[in-house]
Amino acid sequence: MKDKLLIYHKDAQLYGEILSKRLPQLEICPTSQPGEAVDFVEEAEIILTWKIPDGLLKKAKNLKWFASLGAGNEHLVSNPYLPASIPFTKVAVYGEMMAEYVFAYLLYFSRDLAKYSKDQANKIWDQKRPDRLRGKTLGILGLGSIGKEIAKRGKQFGMDVLGLKRTPEPVEAVDQVLGPEDLTKMIRLADYLVVALPLTPVTRHFVGEREIGLLKDGAILFNIGRGKTIDQKALIKHIKTGRIKAVLDVFEEEPLPPEDELWDLGNVIITPHISGINLPEEVCEEFVRNYDRWVKGEPLLGRVDREKGY
Ligand code: OXD
Repeated sequence: MKDKLLIYHKDAQLYGEILSKRLPQLEICPTSQPGEAVDFVEEAEIILTWKIPDGLLKKAKNLKWFASLGAGNEHLVSNPYLPASIPFTKVAVYGEMMAEYVFAYLLYFSRDLAKYSKDQANKIWDQKRPDRLRGKTLGILGLGSIGKEIAKRGKQFGMDVLGLKRTPEPVEAVDQVLGPEDLTKMIRLADYLVVALPLTPVTRHFVGEREIGLLKDGAILFNIGRGKTIDQKALIKHIKTGRIKAVLDVFEEEPLPPEDELWDLGNVIITPHISGINLPEEVCEEFVRNYDRWVKGEPLLGRVDREKGY
């Protein structure tokens, strides 16, 4: 008998095509329609999904492995239909892509690319000395698979890299790993502060009014994790002073409503939660690696710790 895999996602067909070639030993049901999944889910040993209706999940009586397509899983960690006895994994393929996003905007600002685009449009030849990344302090809140990739690139650019972690321990490319009690210290030192935190009860508004107020003049605050880890109202207030800039890929409410005043502020870059987007080939590659471990009874990669919430 073949193991049954339910893929429940808007791009399920795409995942299904890749995985049916890579894992012909699986019986796969790829769908984005609850009605099409309802019978199959009762027998599925594995579910690969990002968001799944509770009505379907509660029918998954044969479930042996829940594989999330996301990096942050705050909407799933305490789902009553996902008991602790079921292994629950997340995908850890987004680090490189999200690090590229951060450095795209670090270079955009340090090399003043907006000015040169404008100058080009106006046929203006005007040379300015650039800012260097070398020697600047990069603070990273959250040293998971994403924060670690950002740190490595920071080091390659000659930056001083500080990282904050719940349980401080040496991390490659991070000059100083600090604990949560040193948040203030990191904020005061950072020229660029990147928030790459999962959303948990502890990290909600982790960067609040006080912390934002401590940022250096000219600092740039990035949020690529979850919108609710930064107090957005307080952030808007501080951005309006012109003292700091922000690069925001995530927001307290998504999509960011058209009437939100963030859209109209000058010192903000807004992107629609695209710093890390599923690339089906990469995600499937990781799933295949994990499936191999699952079959052999080896520990799965990317296990979600429900207590910690990520
Ligand atoms: C995630 C996301 O995977 O934000 O967590 O898309």
